Amino acid sequence: MYDLKGKVAVVTGAGRHRGLGEAMAKRLAAEGARVVVTDIGTAKGPQFAQQHIGTTSEMDEIVAEIKKAGGQAVAQVCDVLDEGQVAAAVQKAVSAFGRIDVMVNNAGIGYLMTDILSLEQKDWDAVLNVNLRGCFFGAKHAAKQMIKQGSGGIIINIASQAAKRGFAGAAAYVSSKHGLVGLTRTAALEFGKHKIRVNSICPNHVTTGLGAWQNEHFSAAGGQSEEQYMAAMRSRIPLGRVGLSSDIAATAAFLCSGEAEYITGQNFDVSGGEEMH
Ligand SMILES: NC(=O)c1ccc[n+]([C@@H]2O[C@H](COP(=O)([O-])OP(=O)(O)OC[C@H]3O[C@@H](n4cnc5c(N)ncnc54)[C@H](O)[C@@H]3O)[C@@H](O)[C@H]2O)c1
Repeated sequence: MYDLKGKVAVVTGAGRHRGLGEAMAKRLAAEGARVVVTDIGTAKGPQFAQQHIGTTSEMDEIVAEIKKAGGQAVAQVCDVLDEGQVAAAVQKAVSAFGRIDVMVNNAGIGYLMTDILSLEQKDWDAVLNVNLRGCFFGAKHAAKQMIKQGSGGIIINIASQAAKRGFAGAAAYVSSKHGLVGLTRTAALEFGKHKIRVNSICPNHVTTGLGAWQNEHFSAAGGQSEEQYMAAMRSRIPLGRVGLSSDIAATAAFLCSGEAEYITGQNFDVSGGEEMH
C-alpha cells in the first residue's frame, strides 16, 4: 500500500463499471486520496453511444462504492472534448477538497476502429480529440492549478501498447496514443521545474467494457472465435495472461506515491512483457 492521504485526484473517464478509470479511482481512494470521479455522463450521438460510455448513474454508483469502502469521492460530469468542462473538473477538486495533486487523463475511445482506406474524418477527429486533445486539456488545466498551489503534482496519461507499435485497422487510435507519448515527454520537460511529474501507462489488453468490445470486433475481423483470439493473445505474452484493471491501478498508485518522486517523462509498458520498448 502507498500512503496517499492528503492528496486529491481527478480521474477522467472513470464512470464506467469494469473500466480502468473506475479501478484507478477506487485504488487511489483506498490509498487515502480524495477523488473526483468524472465522465461524459450521457450518450451523445453515434460516436458516444450509451453502450460505450460512463453514465451519470454509473458515476454515482462508483462514488457510492468508494464511500462505502471508507473513501472520499465526488462525481462531476466532464466531456473531455470541451476545454471548459476539463477546467471545471479541476476546479471541482478545489471546491470539494481544497486542491488537486493528481490528474489521471484516462478517458479514451477505442471502439471507432476502421482501416485507413475507409476511415472518415469525423471518426479520426473524434478519436484524436478525445484521446489526445482531451489529455492536453487535462495536463494544461491541472498543471495551472498545481503551479498556483506551489507544491508540485502528478499527471498520469493512460496511453496503450498502441502507443509503441502499429495495429492494422486502428490508425486513429494508434496515432492518438503515439501522440500521447510525445505529449507526456514534452509536459514532463515543461513542468519539471514546478515538481510536476508526468508519466504515461501503456497497458496491453484488459477486458474492460471497451476491451470486451475489442475482443468481439477483432476476433470477428480475423475469422476466429473469441476463445481462439484470446488464446493467441496469451501466447504472445511472456507472463501468460492478459492484463487486469488492478495491474493498471497498482501502477497508477505507485506513480502517485513518494516512491516515484524521481520518475518523470516515462511511458510504462504494463503488459506482462508483451511490449518491451
Ligand atoms: N482495456 C484495454 O485493453 C486498454 C488497453 C490500453 C489502453 N486502454 C486505455 O485505457 C483507457 C480506459 O479504457 P477502458 O478499457 O477502461 O474502457 P472504458 O470504455 O471502460 O473507459 C473509457 C471511458 O472514457 C469515457 N469517455 C469517452 N469519451 C469521453 C469524453 N468525450 N469525455 C469524457 N469521457 C469520455 C467513457 O465514457 C468511458 O467511461 C482508454 O484511454 C483506453 O484507450 C485500454
